Amino acid sequence: MARDWYNAHAEGYDALIAGRKWMRIHHQVTWERTIQPYIPKDRDARILDAGGGTGRWTIPLARLGYRVVLADISERMLGVAKQKLDREGLLPRVEVVATDLANMGEFGDKCFDFTLCEGGPISFCSNPPRAIRELVRVTREDAFIVASVDNLYRRVLRMVRTGRIDQAQRLHEGRWLTLAYPRYQFTPSELVERFREAGCQIIKLMGKNILPQMVDRSLLDDPRVYDAILRLELQCCEEPHMAGMGGQIAIVAKKAGVP
Ligand SMILES: C[S@@+](CC[C@H](N)C(=O)[O-])C[C@H]1O[C@@H](n2cnc3c(N)ncnc32)[C@H](O)[C@@H]1O
Repeated sequence: MARDWYNAHAEGYDALIAGRKWMRIHHQVTWERTIQPYIPKDRDARILDAGGGTGRWTIPLARLGYRVVLADISERMLGVAKQKLDREGLLPRVEVVATDLANMGEFGDKCFDFTLCEGGPISFCSNPPRAIRELVRVTREDAFIVASVDNLYRRVLRMVRTGRIDQAQRLHEGRWLTLAYPRYQFTPSELVERFREAGCQIIKLMGKNILPQMVDRSLLDDPRVYDAILRLELQCCEEPHMAGMGGQIAIVAKKAGVP
């Protein structure tokens, strides 16, 4: 279960992420291309950071003055987030809620002005289509929902490249991969379809971690290589055909309004 894994690794989670150079590129691409352009203009807006973990996105959003609900299935990840929020005096602006993304009964319909589900939580749920329906349900009409999930094709490519053909075949058919915990692997078109079925218009579909995870990691220590990969990633990530190349697929959807 994802909850057990994140509970067991919560204390070291931020250090683990900080140690990965490619995550800095992922962070910048996520903020510049999927969050910043879509956050509400009104600073009184209420934002849901679902599967928000130790607060990577809750913290900058709360610093900007938004009211944020940080929701996650792992109490220990939320515990780390609370300490960080407390240190910055941001706790009064953030409600911290332990819940399962696929069943957010504590939130009413249409109660958020912007909904975020970053870093794969939909893939880590036992019922990903239901999690998508829940994210859409709690979001108000005409508001944006931003999410990223695991990408089936990148996994299949990696398995084939390393000679694990049977495993690639099974994954392609079954879609569930257990890496520390079970993770559902989406195709870009399936992700689009699920959000459409749940009542959304698709604003953007893009790949993330396309290039940074492909280069030899040590090359990213060279600032010139790092800058070049970042620039290329920003140039490529929104090209629709590159969505299937990313370590993750990101989607920006808009909940349809009342006709
Ligand atoms: C890779 S972390 C991403 C955290 C954060 N969104 C970020 O971008 O740094 C995935 C998070 O999803 C949470 N998660 C996994 N399954 C979940 C579920 N069913 N409901 C809510 N959160 C879940 C985990 O506890 C973990 O904090």
